[in-house]
Amino acid sequence: MTVDPALLNAWTRLLDLCKLTKEEHVVLLTGAASSSLHIDAAQLALALRGASYLTLEPGAAPAVAVAGESTAHYGPSAIANNRLAQQTLKGADLIVDLMGMYRGAEQDEILAAGCRIILVKEPPDVMMRLMTNADDKRRVLAANSVLSRAHRMHVRSDAGTDLHVTLGQYPTLVQYGYADEPGRWDHCPSAFIARWPDEGSANGVVVLDSGDTILPFKDYVRTPIRLEIRDGFVRRIEGGLDARYLRDYIASFNDPDGYAVSHLGWGLHDRATWTALGMYDKRQTNAMDARSYYGNFMFSTGPNAEAGGSRHTPCHLDIPMSSCSIWVDDEPMVDHGNVVPANQRVAGFAGHTTEDLS
Ligand SMILES: [Fe+2]
Repeated sequence: MTVDPALLNAWTRLLDLCKLTKEEHVVLLTGAASSSLHIDAAQLALALRGASYLTLEPGAAPAVAVAGESTAHYGPSAIANNRLAQQTLKGADLIVDLMGMYRGAEQDEILAAGCRIILVKEPPDVMMRLMTNADDKRRVLAANSVLSRAHRMHVRSDAGTDLHVTLGQYPTLVQYGYADEPGRWDHCPSAFIARWPDEGSANGVVVLDSGDTILPFKDYVRTPIRLEIRDGFVRRIEGGLDARYLRDYIASFNDPDGYAVSHLGWGLHDRATWTALGMYDKRQTNAMDARSYYGNFMFSTGPNAEAGGSRHTPCHLDIPMSSCSIWVDDEPMVDHGNVVPANQRVAGFAGHTTEDLS
């Protein structure tokens, strides 16, 4: 085993952020797609601190996603029908998830047992580059303090987006990249805030402009796509090639819930970039740069079971968009891609967009 010292440091840092103590027990959950670099570095970091841990690799997942892209099939994972694995995981204080547990079913019980879970799916270089810190957490929690109490969200863009939703039925999704409290799930690295809208409340238009990104396609939109949204569902998808691709992709699931509006929010990670997605082969990244970059608007479609809703559809799209403006209860959160509230802004950070070079 040869472990990159920088990656070992990153894992040590992550375990510190997750407040792992000497008395606690850790399960390292792995799957066929887990990075061996991560497995080796995580095991060494755990061993060096004298942690009590075991590595658990359940069998194959019940469904295979297109092209083996796990995010292209949002459904039960390899532990869904594996009671032994579930019981083992419930006994842990911290689960380091290198496999990718399905959020919304088997994971709920494990979290309810007081376990904390940190998911790591990005490759080592992304983990090291985007590792979050206490200031990222502070800004995400500042955003959460507004969004978790809110009743309405409104999103606009010069490209034509004009979307209204009401809030209150479902909780927020608070991601700051580490799991430091009992019952907390998080995904390293990430920094964004989001919330699922009330059932049937999303109305308006979302225009995906050229340069916006669609995940799991892991690609940039080239030809604008107009989504007509009524009573919580996408009712019409219009445009050129990209619209056709999106329309046929959702249709391939043959599931009406695939058209539902899912979590909505904004990115707060100043080291994540809009451009990074273009630098990786699709299988190299989980696209956290796109999901987290500072001032994005993340529109999404599909399930809400993770939030307590009834939609379990495997068709889930995260769609980070640039240059949008977001209001929460009429208070501006993002203005044309720039984060507005002082307590969510990064000191001295002007943003990554260079639309105005004057
Ligand atoms: Fe999502």
